[in-house]
Amino acid sequence: MIAARPASAILLAATVMLLMGCGRMSGRPTPGGESGQPASVLSFAQLYSQNCAGCHGAEGRDGAAIPLADPLYQALVSDETLRQTISNGQKGSRMPAFAQPAGGTLTAEEIEALVRGMRHSWSKPGVLSGQNPPAYAAQKNGDPQRGEQVYGAYCASCHGAVGQPPGKAGAVVDRSFLSLVSDQALRTIVIIGRPDLDAPDWRNNLPGHPMADQQITDLVAWLSAQRGGGETRTPSRRTLTEGGENR
Ligand code: HEC
Ligand code: HEC
Repeated sequence: MIAARPASAILLAATVMLLMGCGRMSGRPTPGGESGQPASVLSFAQLYSQNCAGCHGAEGRDGAAIPLADPLYQALVSDETLRQTISNGQKGSRMPAFAQPAGGTLTAEEIEALVRGMRHSWSKPGVLSGQNPPAYAAQKNGDPQRGEQVYGAYCASCHGAVGQPPGKAGAVVDRSFLSLVSDQALRTIVIIGRPDLDAPDWRNNLPGHPMADQQITDLVAWLSAQRGGGETRTPSRRTLTEGGENR
């Protein structure tokens, strides 16, 4: 999949290192401060390709997981949320914890370099100006009953009506899909869409009718309830390192 893309020499080299099993992926401690190459340890491109590209895509898009390079996403999310999510992962999903105290392999400095690098490379100032976007995180509890109606109005056209076969964009109301994504990831996807997969953002699910914050909160409450049975699946280390599909 990576080979099919026009990869730069640097990217190719990074991929080869990855395939050869570089120390970072196998959990060896980083060279850190003692001797050597602080500059390369803190390079955003290198940190990103070694730790994130497998799931979030080589260029921050077209991966199985959220397209971090989407300027809408960068405008919506705070530095603190980026830092927290990278450090501690997202429980109940395949997003691993990268901070050393949380069992990961990255130093606080490296995590900071990732946050700054994403901002520098992928933010686009003004992308949300005049847009009145929904808040990144839910502000209150949602009403699942109203959420089901929201699904019918904004999602069913592409993902299929409740109780009917999935639509052309595949099933979202699907236990095995829902059991692997957090409520926040559902909210994030509904707000920013998947421009890399032609999934619309909150403004264009129903053209001319941008979704309101509360509608998204209600919708996610309903989707969350469709996981059913209170079973929580803890992803295995194997699934984590494979970095496969998240749906
Ligand atoms: C094994 C796959 C995998 C790897 C590796 C991975 N991620 Fe993720 N990431 C995910 C998944 C899946 C989600 C959505 C999790 C959820 O359900 O909330 C996610 C979510 C996120 C989010 C939060 C998205 C939101 O909703 O705001 C951020 C930020 C993020 N990842 C950054 C990174 C960075 C930076 C790296 C590399 C240091 C990385 N991820 C590595 C799979 C991965
Ligand atoms: C105009 C069509 C359209 C509408 C309306 C739409 N989607 Fe999608 N959605 C897509 C497409 C296309 C994809 C990508 C499918 C693929 O390639 O896997 C997608 C993917 C998704 C995914 C999976 C994202 C991922 O990371 O794999 C989720 C979750 C999702 N949509 C939720 C929703 C919800 C909830 C709504 C209603 C608010 C909605 N969608 C409305 C077209 C649509």
